[in-house]
Amino acid sequence: PAAWPTSDPPRPGSTEVAEVETVTTIAEVRARTDAARAAGRTVGAVLTMGYLHEGHASLIAAARAECDLVVTTVFVNPLQFGPAEDLAAYPRDLERDVALSAEAGADVVFAPSVEEMYPRPVLTTVSVAEVTERFEGASRPTHFAGVATVVAKLLSIVGPCRAYFGEKDWQQVCVVRRVVADLSLPVEVVACPTLREPDGLARSSRNVYLEAEERAAAPVLLRALVTGRDRVLAGERDPRAVEAAMAAVVATEPLVELDYAAAVRADDLADLAVLAGDVRLLVAARVGRPRLLDNLGVTVPPA
Ligand code: PAF
Repeated sequence: PAAWPTSDPPRPGSTEVAEVETVTTIAEVRARTDAARAAGRTVGAVLTMGYLHEGHASLIAAARAECDLVVTTVFVNPLQFGPAEDLAAYPRDLERDVALSAEAGADVVFAPSVEEMYPRPVLTTVSVAEVTERFEGASRPTHFAGVATVVAKLLSIVGPCRAYFGEKDWQQVCVVRRVVADLSLPVEVVACPTLREPDGLARSSRNVYLEAEERAAAPVLLRALVTGRDRVLAGERDPRAVEAAMAAVVATEPLVELDYAAAVRADDLADLAVLAGDVRLLVAARVGRPRLLDNLGVTVPPA
């Protein structure tokens, strides 16, 4: 496979860690972004639920390289947790998040409380049809409405900006793009490449739960995706054949239990009768305790 980003992205400019300002109210962050735009400066936004890792740092660094004012939002959004998911147990460490944001190049960290974001019971939600119904949405039926609602709200708070999201969560990228387009938000969504370990495993905070043998087996997900991509590049146009080829690769690792392997239209995850245009290959599998996701894009060469 082609090389992939593995190391932590370098910060542009000096090695000094710049000052970062932490604000907790909507009024404060709006004042910062409005003032920047009024002065002709561009704004970059990286939306997170905190407990930042290298993946987030790479998004902040991408925003730093392209925008004048970089805002990281840190908010554990209750709306995107299902009834069986433990919101209280979600890891939090704001001090560390602020330090990591500063190191990666953010200027402002917006870390609102739940009361600041949702002072009253939420009656208005954003629900995106179709794109949210399959894959991750199938096992978490309310998740993407929670994501879409908070993303619409955070982007409306930050205002016109470039917003950076990781390709690792491809379905989320599709949902966010659709929200921005359908609601005419003045935002440019920038999808950034997945960071990988040297053996190709997509970096994820869930990887720490892998036992040694599971960790050794996990790169099979990228091998499956690369096999799928190579089949497409070699001329295969039947999505079922590509999916079967990816599933067969995953099946070579007994510790990896496949959830789905799919070849779909890249921008809305729709099924294609014949592969054409921009295609996204998606895999999800349980590897011991964690459930891991990965994906790869392939553009079908014209006939
Ligand atoms: O990807 C995440 O961390 C979250 O889903 C997001 C986009 C910050 C919304 O809460």
